[in-house]
Amino acid sequence: APSENVNAPGLNFNAITPNKADAVTVPEGYEQAVVIRWGDPVLPGAPQFDFDNQTPEAQAQQFGFNNDFTDLIAVEGKPDTFLMVCNQEYTTGTSMFKGYKEGDPTENQVRIEMAAHGISVVEVKGEPGSGKLTPVLGEYNRRITASTPFELRGPAAGTFFTRTAADPTGTRVLGTIANCSGGITPWGTMISGEENYTNYFSGTDTPPLDGLKEGWKRYGVGKDEDAHHWMKYEDRFDLSKEPNEINRFGYLVEVNPHDPTSTPIKHSALGRMKREGGNIYVTPAGDVVTYCGDDSKFEYIYKFVSSRKVQPGKGAAAMEANMRILDEGTLYVAKFEGRKVENGKVPDGGYQGTGKWIPLLTTKADGSAESHVDGMPAENVALWTRVAGDKVGATKMDRPEDIEPNPRTGKIYCALTNNSDRGAEGKAGIDTPNPRVKNKSGQLLEITDDHTGTTFSWDLLLVCGDPAAADTYYGGFDKSKVSRISCPDNVTFDSHGNLWISTDGTNATFDSNDGLFGVVLEGKDRGLTKQFLTVPFGAETCGPVVRDNRVLVAVQHPGETDDATADKPTSHWPDGGGSQPRPSVVAVWKKSGAIGS
Ligand code: FEO
Ligand code: CA
Ligand code: CA
Ligand code: CA
Repeated sequence: APSENVNAPGLNFNAITPNKADAVTVPEGYEQAVVIRWGDPVLPGAPQFDFDNQTPEAQAQQFGFNNDFTDLIAVEGKPDTFLMVCNQEYTTGTSMFKGYKEGDPTENQVRIEMAAHGISVVEVKGEPGSGKLTPVLGEYNRRITASTPFELRGPAAGTFFTRTAADPTGTRVLGTIANCSGGITPWGTMISGEENYTNYFSGTDTPPLDGLKEGWKRYGVGKDEDAHHWMKYEDRFDLSKEPNEINRFGYLVEVNPHDPTSTPIKHSALGRMKREGGNIYVTPAGDVVTYCGDDSKFEYIYKFVSSRKVQPGKGAAAMEANMRILDEGTLYVAKFEGRKVENGKVPDGGYQGTGKWIPLLTTKADGSAESHVDGMPAENVALWTRVAGDKVGATKMDRPEDIEPNPRTGKIYCALTNNSDRGAEGKAGIDTPNPRVKNKSGQLLEITDDHTGTTFSWDLLLVCGDPAAADTYYGGFDKSKVSRISCPDNVTFDSHGNLWISTDGTNATFDSNDGLFGVVLEGKDRGLTKQFLTVPFGAETCGPVVRDNRVLVAVQHPGETDDATADKPTSHWPDGGGSQPRPSVVAVWKKSGAIGS
């Protein structure tokens, strides 16, 4: 814990002490309650969860596994009522089923896992006088799974590489998987990134065409990548039988939660990667700019500047028009410049520099697309965007996770979570924005962008890790007075303009659980970092949502350790006793007054 409790607007609470408890730990004076757990009913009429008798039909109506990005969209005319949108990123058979045979799941288990993936839309209702939220089995509730039809749009759609035996049009894809982070658009839809989808495909290491070898290598496609073994029961996940199915994942997806019958979209104009998520900034002139990170070691940061503007109004026609904003515009990749640095030696005033956005692909109103990359046709840039980034000399980053504009200042914040291979033999060495070899603790990048233009300046707000170590930096704040933070993953902002960061992988740096932290961005306390909560043993902190009257975190994979199984669980959160751990969304509120007041 910090040597002294320093308060700031919105961060007026006693920082909590790092711990390894099998619990969500919140500051003194705060309360918490689970909003929804894996298996809880989402659709009206859904059965109650029965761990020992799971079925795919039940799971397709219940909250999925491993909740990640979470946000709240206000329901008009109903006070303190929201559509909660939430990604269910991935499944772990060993944690979901007793007696699960790794590498050899049953068909029932595989079909339950497919139904446990995707996205949930759940109406939630507040309670006067508390921050508690309770699910309502309402008309908007929806489960999107690994089998829900999506429309694929943009330059990758309908090409040779996205046509399959089941879908000769190359435009109708079943399901979304590995949805990590995301955002809410100004027009009221949810956007979400398809991240580690390559873990669902297997069958061969040999692409169907020699020309695809580079693409398969860059995206880590092959038979040893599969962790789920779905190909045993569905041919589309077998690369030797259906090599194009995999090219239909890796996109920014968009869901209209206001219409549960609407077809969600995959937008290939923003390229294809192992996409963490996406977040939008609208400039004072009304231009719509979407920022995305590709979360793998040495991958890139992207932005997409749309050539369309937001249509006012909430009717079907406005929504239809607005859901085309991400189909038309230019995709850029970031190249960073800065002074030469020495490994782990923080320069006076921290790390800073400038940068350029390099155009990769422009998609036009008529659907045609133009490549800006020599030797790559437009459709190839949309499909193998990483290769395009390589060709233009983009900067290889330390795993870009969530990236989000601060609505108060328009500055962009990106969590670079870690990169144990930085500086390893045959890998990229350090540079100014990625200044440490074998980077296990990560850094937080701040970009001041000329949003529709091609230049930016940047600095590192945080170089995470032990505040007592010479290689860390906390925005220039007195490091003896901060909470230690490691492996930033998701970011959001409070109404005071503070940044909030959730972490994934703290135990690689410190012997303690992950958590949620608030960080002051502006003024004399810039860099003050305070821990607001910790999540249970083995869990990562996702979500997060920070409002004046409540905080929400998604507790992902509680009890996930190398040797944990459903037969021998290492966590019993949230139900306690001898129960199985269940990924869940939790609300936290202050007994009296606003969060951080
Ligand atoms: Fe699913 Fe990038 O964390
Ligand atoms: Ca993440
Ligand atoms: Ca976020
Ligand atoms: Ca992560």
